Amino acid sequence: MTKIAILTSGGDAPGMNAAIRAIVHSAQHNQYDCIGFFHGYNGLLNDEWQTLTHRDVANVLQFGGTILKSARCRAMCEPQGPKQAVNTLRKHQIDALIVIGGDGSFRGLEAIKAHWEGQVIGLPGTIDNDLAGTDNTIGFATAVTTATHAIDKIRDTANAFERVFIVEVMGRHSGHIAFHVGLATGAEAILSFENCDSADTKQQLDRLINQIQVQQQYNHDSFVIVLAENLWPGGPQALKAQLAEQADIESAVCVLGHIQRGGSPAPEDRLLATELGLEAVNAVTDNRTGIMIGKQGTALHDVPLSHAINAAKPVDARWIKAQHDVLTEYLVKHRK
Ligand code: F6P
Repeated sequence: MTKIAILTSGGDAPGMNAAIRAIVHSAQHNQYDCIGFFHGYNGLLNDEWQTLTHRDVANVLQFGGTILKSARCRAMCEPQGPKQAVNTLRKHQIDALIVIGGDGSFRGLEAIKAHWEGQVIGLPGTIDNDLAGTDNTIGFATAVTTATHAIDKIRDTANAFERVFIVEVMGRHSGHIAFHVGLATGAEAILSFENCDSADTKQQLDRLINQIQVQQQYNHDSFVIVLAENLWPGGPQALKAQLAEQADIESAVCVLGHIQRGGSPAPEDRLLATELGLEAVNAVTDNRTGIMIGKQGTALHDVPLSHAINAAKPVDARWIKAQHDVLTEYLVKHRK
């Protein structure tokens, strides 16, 4: 009988449970055995697992986090790690390994593939949306929703105090969250990798100060800056200090942090996770391997793991243009 193993790895993302549920249901439908390894790849290295049936995945799709737990596993980057993982897969007579995670997790999957005869299939699970070959990753929609609601609340208090706020959002080294959230909240500025050169912060700072001063002159309520994490040298506190030193602009800092990873998955993420999970089991049946299942438009398709990891996944140019146009319009209007 075909035997599938599942694990979740790297930063957890809302919707991972919905993906696990879909895989388990479809596996049972196809009369495949299914087991889950715990704590990411550590579960393979430590042989920590449990059988998964439909009972284990009842009432999980509405919860964030992952019932299989997650971890980042340094040992998978060492030569021995993938070999040890393969020993465990062989011991359990696994035919296919499905990993839900981001690029680091897929690198682990590629390393396993180099030593193993079984099928390896990835599902894109990360709030960062930084995997190529899929419009959205599982968890991205929820993270954007959570951060949008948080900034709406910040906006209330920012308006009340007529304050400048610097709000740092996650995304690791990509600006998908920053742009979507910035536009959705009407942020006055978005500072992200796509529109800022972190090697030349002087010019960015001058431009930002100019924007704030134009706005303050016309006595608007608040000014929200959405800042992508890992962009500004020294982080949001450094930016706050520079605004104060260079232009006497007081600001407050809020780092949204891990709240963006938690919470009940948005319906979009539940649906995406379900579709991708079901297709992963189809891929097992069809003997497809070395792939991530992606979704572009309404079509599901196989993306080679190396492409998902290495190809660029730029923020949609229309969002960058929208932000630029909104700001230009704003500055022109207020200079008159
Ligand atoms: O990849 C998801 C993510 O949340 C990134 O946005 C962030 O940079 C990173 O993980 C944080 O990782 P950790 O939870 O290990 O601090």
